[in-house]
Amino acid sequence: MYLQSIKTIFLLLFSLAASQIYTGPEDDRLVTQLSLDIVTNGISTTPDGRLFLVVSHVDGSNGPSIVEYNRTTNTTTAYPNTEWNSYADGKDPATHFVSINSQRIGPDGKLYIVDTGAPTFLGPVLLPYGPKLIQVDITTDAVSRVYFMGNATQSGSFLDDVRFDPARGKAYLTDAGTPSGLIVLDLATGEVQRMLNNHPSTRVYSPVSGEGTILRHNGEPVFIYADQLEVSPDGEYLYYEPASGPLSRITTDALNQAFHNSSMNDNDVLGQYVEPYAHTPSTGGTALDAAGNVYNSDTDSQRIIRIAPNGTMTTLVQDPRLLWVDAMWIDSQGLLWMPAAQLNRGVPFQNGTSYIRKPMQVFTIDVGVGPSGIDHA
Ligand SMILES: *[C@@H]1O[C@H](CO)[C@@H](O)[C@H](O)[C@H]1NC(C)=O
Ligand SMILES: *[C@@H]1O[C@H](CO)[C@@H](O)[C@H](O)[C@H]1NC(C)=O
Ligand SMILES: *[C@@H]1O[C@H](CO)[C@@H](O)[C@H](O)[C@H]1NC(C)=O
Ligand SMILES: *[C@@H]1O[C@H](CO)[C@@H](O)[C@H](O)[C@H]1NC(C)=O
Ligand SMILES: *[C@@H]1O[C@H](CO)[C@@H](O)[C@H](O)[C@H]1NC(C)=O
Ligand SMILES: *[C@@H]1O[C@H](CO)[C@@H](O)[C@H](O)[C@H]1NC(C)=O
Repeated sequence: MYLQSIKTIFLLLFSLAASQIYTGPEDDRLVTQLSLDIVTNGISTTPDGRLFLVVSHVDGSNGPSIVEYNRTTNTTTAYPNTEWNSYADGKDPATHFVSINSQRIGPDGKLYIVDTGAPTFLGPVLLPYGPKLIQVDITTDAVSRVYFMGNATQSGSFLDDVRFDPARGKAYLTDAGTPSGLIVLDLATGEVQRMLNNHPSTRVYSPVSGEGTILRHNGEPVFIYADQLEVSPDGEYLYYEPASGPLSRITTDALNQAFHNSSMNDNDVLGQYVEPYAHTPSTGGTALDAAGNVYNSDTDSQRIIRIAPNGTMTTLVQDPRLLWVDAMWIDSQGLLWMPAAQLNRGVPFQNGTSYIRKPMQVFTIDVGVGPSGIDHA
């Protein structure tokens, strides 16, 4: 109890010190890559120049959730087609995007799309076929496999994001909802196991915050539990954090032993493998480079933090335009893509009014290092 309260006081002091809006000058290393009418909270690119976006509807808009963006014509097309993007009450949740939270190209070159399966924001999910990971073959532009998460999710789940561990044939997903947790997926069999359910490392006492203000939904503070995750380039560690930090890590070996051993898949046992890694602030998104650096976007202070493999944090860039940078991406040229999604200004967090300022901007900065080979090409 004593230690716990010291920790709480320290965390409160830290949050007060860190939660400052940045009003300094713009940084001319930022390049505006896209200027959009739609809100995107995640981009993925291919080495041959294709570009996929997840569209967020926090501005009150309707329309597709996943689009391909054509940089020649500056147009977007519902991806992989209109039907997957046309969920409505009564349609089959197994064959439509119910509510997409994230997307990325995986190490196998396929596009993976994470569906929370909840028709209303922070509302109950449609079980068992709403929460799912959809795999799209981008050479045929067709859905090639759907992994249903219904055996590892609950009504209050919020399936958030995914990363891959090709050597072990696994994908790891975060559940940011209630209860919080990690989900380990066997990519060959489709079997899923839920881990670290409601564990202190997957949940947090503090709500998420943007531009120095705690997010509220219908007047209540918003808690986003296990959210961002990354796998180290050697595949040894999974890093993960609730959206308000801090970042923890666990060995992928421990997760994979627990996948087959239910007495190990127990918080008292598996929890012993969890280590604190970095004291991250309220975070919109992360990315990881081939050298094992984790990039973390600070939603309060409009900056990107670089976390070295030894856990040390330094500021990479700070600019007043980096408003709630969400899921980031490192392309094969060593550019870090940063969608300034302004999510905290959206309808769900502003009592029904959007204060998002358009056009939306997606920036890059040259970090001089490409992606991790086991993450994507
Ligand atoms: C973009 O549009 C142009 C003109 O229609 C087309 O030639 C090109 O193949 C498209 N690129 C992609 C990546 O779809
Ligand atoms: C597409 O957008 C870019 C950058 O905003 C601009 O330079 C280009 O002229 C646009 N092309 C078309 C066909 O609108
Ligand atoms: C849950 O697991 C059972 C047994 O393996 C399987 O038959 C069923 O299809 C799974 N349900 C979902 C939604 O994946
Ligand atoms: C939103 O409305 C709630 C009551 O429903 C109120 O407590 C809260 O202060 C309002 N927040 C904002 C940002 O207007
Ligand atoms: C399963 O995990 C428990 C707890 O760590 C351990 O004691 C036991 O040896 C493991 N069983 C196998 C078959 O590895
Ligand atoms: C951690 O790594 C960074 C970047 O390589 C280095 O500058 C720093 O000195 C290291 N810190 C410790 C405590 O080893």
